Amino acid sequence: MQDFSDKIVIVTGAASGIGEAIARDLAARGAKIVAADFNREGAEKLAGELGDQVRPFMVDVSKADQVKAMVDFTTSEFGGLDGAVNNAGIGAPDVKMGELDPDDWQKVIGVNLNGVFYGLRYQIPAMLERGGGAIVNMASILGAVGWSGASAYVAAKHGVLGLTQTAALEYAAQNMRVNAVGPGFIETPLIRENMSDEALAGLEAMHPVGRLGTPDEVAKLTAFLLSDQASFANGAYYPLDGGFLA
Ligand code: NAI
Repeated sequence: MQDFSDKIVIVTGAASGIGEAIARDLAARGAKIVAADFNREGAEKLAGELGDQVRPFMVDVSKADQVKAMVDFTTSEFGGLDGAVNNAGIGAPDVKMGELDPDDWQKVIGVNLNGVFYGLRYQIPAMLERGGGAIVNMASILGAVGWSGASAYVAAKHGVLGLTQTAALEYAAQNMRVNAVGPGFIETPLIRENMSDEALAGLEAMHPVGRLGTPDEVAKLTAFLLSDQASFANGAYYPLDGGFLA
């Protein structure tokens, strides 16, 4: 198990699903964590359960000033920043482009794409102050292919890959590593709350392994990419999809 006992890490979207699993996993590996989420209650509950090494922070990642405040809070609470997981995200209404409300487009882009940019914008300078760091951006298999009815989500996740590659190019020489994980469909509230049982069964069948992934499976790959063991992994997209894209 990778040791994170000397690492300070921000996890966004830590109150639920994949982000919660990542925060729990990194806490078990000894990291000091800022569990950041729009859902204050959820972040506080998690931090209360995991103890003093985890501090909750309420953030709307679609707002640059709040993301900056999240990074400032982390450096003042723990004394620096070594790692970040830009994971907070929302689903999109199942609507084809010709009928998509431009406000819905903006909302999804605001959280799923702008939120990742704001994270990189403020996390990178804080990490450079400590001599570098590692960032994982949560993309999706929908960052690699299209998906009917999800144009804003697909565009945002493709954008996350572009940001990931460009951040790696810009800062690799300064000991920064920036990678993206591309989960297939993972059993979380984001999926469960938006799908009928029938649709869920259809999704399961689309994964050659015959099931959805678990948040814990995403957490394990994320921890590896954040850890010093992944020292040559940079600017890359790591699908984790039970063979979906194969
Ligand atoms: P979830 O809905 O279980 O958790 C998302 C968390 O993000 C929630 O705690 C929510 O409060 C928080 N959040 C939402 N908007 C926010 C904002 N503006 N600022 C701060 N926090 C905010 O979702 P899940 O499934 O855990 O998704 C996490 C990430 O993984 C998302 O980026 C999603 O796009 C991505 N993903 C999920 C897949 C899945 O099948 N569940 C597949 C591929 C990617």
